[in-house]
Formats: sequence, C-alpha cells, structure tokens
Amino acid sequence: MKVAVFSTKSYDRESLTQTNAGRHELVFHDVALNVKTAALVEDCNAVCCFVNDQLNAAVLKRLSLQGVTLVVLRCAEVQQVDLAAAKTLGITVARVPGYSPHAVAEHALGLILMLNRHLHRAHYRVRENDYSLNGLLGFDLAGKTVGVIGTGAIGSVFARIMQAIGCKVIANDPVVDESLQAAGVAYLSLDEFYKQADIISLHCPVNKNTRHIINAAAVEAMKNGVMLINTGAGALVDTEAAIEGLKTRKIGYLGLDVYEAPNHGFYEDNSNQVLQDDVFARLLTFPNVVVTGHQAFFTRESLATISEQTLENITAFESGKLALVHQVTE
Ligand code: NAI
Repeated sequence: MKVAVFSTKSYDRESLTQTNAGRHELVFHDVALNVKTAALVEDCNAVCCFVNDQLNAAVLKRLSLQGVTLVVLRCAEVQQVDLAAAKTLGITVARVPGYSPHAVAEHALGLILMLNRHLHRAHYRVRENDYSLNGLLGFDLAGKTVGVIGTGAIGSVFARIMQAIGCKVIANDPVVDESLQAAGVAYLSLDEFYKQADIISLHCPVNKNTRHIINAAAVEAMKNGVMLINTGAGALVDTEAAIEGLKTRKIGYLGLDVYEAPNHGFYEDNSNQVLQDDVFARLLTFPNVVVTGHQAFFTRESLATISEQTLENITAFESGKLALVHQVTE
C-alpha cells in the first residue's frame, strides 16, 4: 500500500525503512497530521500516525475524501482518534498494543534509582567541581516494599525486577497474575496497599476507574515520604494533588514519564518557547521531582517491534485479515 507517515523523526524513518524492506510505499512527513496537513496524503490510501496526530472527525472526513481507508497507529494509545467517526466513514483503525514491556519497566527502575540516590543533582554537582554529599543521602532499595498498580505486561516485568533487587512487592489489580502471586506478590486492596508501600509505580491504563486514581485522598492514605512513579498514563495522577503532597512532604519523591495535559508537547523541541502550563512549571521547581518526556518506551527493541507490527498491520489489512491482528473498534 502507499502510506503517508506523519510526525516522523529520523529514528522513525530509519526504523520503518529498514523493517519495511520495500513491502509498502512509505511517504514520510515530519509534520503532524491535522486539518491543515491532511492534504499531504495525496494519493496514499493509508496513513500511519503517532500520539500527537489529530484524527478527529474533520480530519478523518478529509482523509476519507482523499481515498484513505486505513489508519495504522504506531503506538498503543488511541485517544487521538475519533473511532466513531472512523467507523461511520468506513476507515479501519489498527494499533500496536504492546512493544517492549522491558523498556518501560526498566525506565521506571531508572527513575527510582535517580530519585533515591539524587543522581540528577549529583551529576551537576560533580561537573561544578562540587563533591559534597549533603542532600544526596539515599536508602537501600533491598527490603523496601514496592507497590505496583496494574500487573499486566509492563507491571509484571517491573514487579520481577524489583523482586530481584530484594524488594517486597505488593500489587493492586482487579485481575490477579497467578504466576506473580506464586512468586510472592501479595494482591491487596488499595487501602492496605497505600499503608504498606514505600514506592508506588503505576502501570494501569486510564479508564473511568483509574483516572486520577492518585488524588488527594490517595496521597493522604500513603506512607509519609512515599516515592511515586508514573510511567503509565498522565491522567492517572491528579497533578495538583501530587504538588500538594510534595509541598507537605507526604510525597518524598516523584518520577514522571507522562503528564496529564493532552498535547503537552512531548516529542517536540520547545526550548525557544515560553512554558505556558503553570502546574507543570511548579512541578519542575521541586528538587525531588524528575520528569522525562514520554521516553520510557524508547529503546531500539521497542522501535523495531513498533515498525514490524505497524507494517504487518498494513499487510494484514491488504489481505483482509486485519480483524485478526490489531484492529481497534469503539
Ligand atoms: P496491560 O493491558 O498489559 O496491563 C494493564 C494492567 O492494568 C492489567 O493487568 C489490568 O487488569 C490493570 N488494570 C486495569 N484497571 C485497573 C484498575 N482499576 N486498578 C488496577 N489495575 C488495573 O498494559 P501494559 O502494556 O502493561 O501497559 C500499562 C500502561 O503503560 C498503559 O497505560 C500504557 O499506556 C502505558 N505505557 C506507557 C509507555 C511509556 O512510554 N511511558 C509505553 C507503553 C505503555
């Protein structure tokens, strides 16, 4: 198929071109797809998009008028697509549901180590010829209780990593992973979970039960000085409640790879622009907060899997088999 690929960076183009090996005709665009850029699809019959592309009803209508019948998302997220409009217009939508659970789980561990041992501050101190240790005191992870909310593909890998470090792992998930339970992970109610966890890591999707699962009441129920890590989804955390928790020192450390405001600008270089989000700006003032720009997935292995599954989805659509692969319906 001839596919217009939007929001591409050099790493996307390299990975997709290498994996494609001539299977499909890929037309790369660095701009995001929106009403203004939809005309760039020209004579393509599929578009390949990422998290910041806009696939609302107006854009989908334009795509449909230009003959597009397939949207392949090179991500798990589908919130950027008006699925009802796509269905009405007869546009099939497919995604990549999972790429590398290790990538995200290992990034969560990276945030934990960085915050605990103050590596973000230590790095800059040494570069300024300052070898003082004041303020850099950490704690042994071994023996601490790590709580995992959502023990699916990523959370279960994370749980095993933390067990290997010597942590006690507890979990909260409506679906119990029996192999984790057999490995000693205790599934607890949230009340009991918050009482016990020294470190909490979020690995569940956003849904009506989990939006702002970390709110003021949840923060209040946690241990004093708790470490909170979110590589799951921005809207799991009520950022203002987290800021309040940081100010009262209830939250001792906060590590985020995701942020709740949609279109926050992740993946773009906005360094010449004025930051307009005052809540986000406040977050950045805390010495015990580390934020990364939605990079937890970003490993060579993840990119290779994303490219392979995206191209497979296009091939499956062409051969009428997409429903068996990764089609997204409402
Ligand atoms: P998964 O579907 O394998 O696991 C999600 C788990 O959350 C399931 O076990 C499910 O039962 C559980 N869950 C659902 N509702 C829950 C609730 N109310 N309370 C507790 N647990 C609940 O998903 P996967 O692949 O492990 O992804 C987890 C999260 O990580 C997703 O939100 C995904 O968007 C995010 N993610 C983040 C990336 C990043 O770069 N930061 C990259 C990839 C995924």
